[in-house]
Amino acid sequence: MKTIVVCTNSRPFTSQPSCAHRGSEALADWLEGEIETRGLDATVDRSVCLGHCPYGPNVRLLGEDFYHESTREKLIPLLEALDKAD
Ligand code: FES
Repeated sequence: MKTIVVCTNSRPFTSQPSCAHRGSEALADWLEGEIETRGLDATVDRSVCLGHCPYGPNVRLLGEDFYHESTREKLIPLLEALDKAD
């Protein structure tokens, strides 16, 4: 099973950017729905800070490259790659 790591870190007491403030929770929800709909052998891991805060929301396939400033559109190729890997 593949793991899609989504930073859902929030920084409520600072003006520094965080992935949660940029919509990463909704993105993680959407990914979980897509995984189910597409029947992919994958799971979403909601993560602490991944250390790329200025470029969030940050997502990565565990052990592989990051997707910065992630959107649904940017993550579709990742889902399609997982679909082909099944
Ligand atoms: S808050 Fe998401 S990478 Fe730091």
